[in-house]
Formats: sequence, structure tokens, C-alpha cells
Amino acid sequence: MANVLVTGAAGFIGSHTCEHLVAAGYRVVGLDNFRTGRRENLRSLAGHPLFRLATVDVTDGSAFETAVAEAKPEAIIHLAALVSVPESLQDPVANFRLNLVATFHLAEAARRHHVPRLVFASSAAVYGNATEVPLREDTPLHPLSPYGGAKLASESLLFSHARSFGFTVRCQRYFNVFGPRQDPRSPYSGVISIFAEKMSRGVAPPIFGDGEQSRDFIFVQDVARANVLAATQPGQENGVANICTGHATSLNRVAGGN
Ligand SMILES: NC(=O)c1ccc[n+]([C@@H]2O[C@H](COP(=O)([O-])OP(=O)(O)OC[C@H]3O[C@@H](n4cnc5c(N)ncnc54)[C@H](O)[C@@H]3O)[C@@H](O)[C@H]2O)c1
Repeated sequence: MANVLVTGAAGFIGSHTCEHLVAAGYRVVGLDNFRTGRRENLRSLAGHPLFRLATVDVTDGSAFETAVAEAKPEAIIHLAALVSVPESLQDPVANFRLNLVATFHLAEAARRHHVPRLVFASSAAVYGNATEVPLREDTPLHPLSPYGGAKLASESLLFSHARSFGFTVRCQRYFNVFGPRQDPRSPYSGVISIFAEKMSRGVAPPIFGDGEQSRDFIFVQDVARANVLAATQPGQENGVANICTGHATSLNRVAGGN
């Protein structure tokens, strides 16, 4: 039975990814420092024989490496991050540590402990304001924020380590993920969770502009399945994948209009 290590396990996407892995029979070690994640997100896995959660800060290279050495994973899914574009603009130093230095620790832990496969949580933010519809993996990359820049630099760092030291990296460029456990209280949360929370209280959702700006929304369980496949499917090569539906939905439509 294969071992998989998941960073950011107590987060929105991480908790669903851990559940999918355990349901498929993998032994999972989750790491988190609870910066934004919550233990309750992993309630369904508490006490499960295939699951263990450890408190580890992935910006601490030696703690991260020790966790990898102990878990001996066949794959690492790296989701831990500073997850917000606005926060990366307010605090570029924290963004650099969390979204790039931690990636280097990941690459080094994989090299030293012979982890054959890494799955990295990248983002559609690497495309910036590209207007091509739909965005394709070969669309030119123009990140417009420290967050997008660190995601793109992480992809490059991981691919160069993979080619140098012989492991495989799959970079998953998630678009706008929605679903249960997305925290609507966060000012940086996804638009669907904010709309759902407001509408459940009978409050009109806030729409800026004409509401015709559109996004590609993807359900979190589909993202979790994509993560499991990237981590476990045999015969994968280094590469990037857009994790999206290929369909644009306007904010008016999300809010229940046309
Ligand atoms: N949600 C989206 O729409 C979306 C879109 C594109 C990319 N992503 C990426 O997906 C990944 C997961 O995002 P999410 O939406 O689940 O966010 P989230 O905030 O729910 O999850 C991030 C998790 O990482 C943990 N974490 C943060 N810093 C850490 C550290 N130093 N050490 C250990 N754990 C740490 C947090 O506590 C949290 O549990 C992130 O890399 C994010 O950039 C998300």
C-alpha cells in the first residue's frame, strides 16, 4: 500500500484530497500548521488507521525534511501556501517564504529522500490577465502579483530539480475552486462561498461592476480527484495541467441571475 504525504492537509482542498486518498486505500500523512486550516476539516478521518496528522511548518526546512524521512512517501501533494493574491501584495515577504522557500524545502526533501513524485498546487494566477478563452497550458505566462510570481517560480524550481535528480513533478494550475469547507469568513475567500454565506442569510451578494466578469469555477471534489490521479497514476511525466472545467460563468449567473 503506497504512502502519500499531503501538506496543507487541514485546509479546504487538502482535507478533500486526504479523504479521497484514504477512500482509495492509500496511507496518508497530513502536515499542517493551522495558519488557515482547521482540524474540524479532517473530522471524517479522525482515528482512521490509514490517516495521521502532524503539526509541521513547511517553511522550517529541517522539520519538513524529518516529516518526509519518517513518512517515506511515494508521492507528496504540496498544498500548504499563503493562498491569497491580496495578502501576497500586503506581505510579499511572507509570500516569498511560504510560496517559494517552502517549495525549495519540498524539492530538497524529495531529492534527499528519493520521493519519486511531487504534485504541486499551482494556480491560474500564473496567466495574469490573459484574455484567451479558454486559457490553455501553453498560453503565455504573465503573473501580476507576488502570489502568481511565486507559483510560477515554484513550478520552474520543481521542474529543474526533477530533471536534475530524476523525480516526476505534476503542477496543477487550479482555477476558482468552490465547495464545502471553503471559509466564507476570510476576506480572501472564493466568490461562491461569500455569495452562499450571504444568500443563506437573505443578504444580496456583493457584485462589483456589471457582474458580467466571468470565472472558471471547479468543484473541490473534482480537484481532489485530479490530485489523487496526479499522485498515483502510473507512467506520468513532468508537466502542467489546468484544473478547470473549460467553461466561464459570470458573477450574475452565480448570483442566480441570467
Ligand atoms: N482555493 C482556490 O480556489 C485555489 C486556486 C488556485 C490555487 N490554490 C492553491 O491550492 C492550495 C490549497 O489552497 P486552499 O484553497 O485549500 O487554501 P487553505 O487556506 O484552505 O489551505 C492551505 C493550508 O495550508 C496550511 N498552511 C499554510 N501555511 C503553512 C505552513 N507554513 N506549514 C504548514 N501548513 C501551512 C494552512 O493552515 C491550510 O490548511 C494552495 O497552494 C493555493 O495556493 C487554491
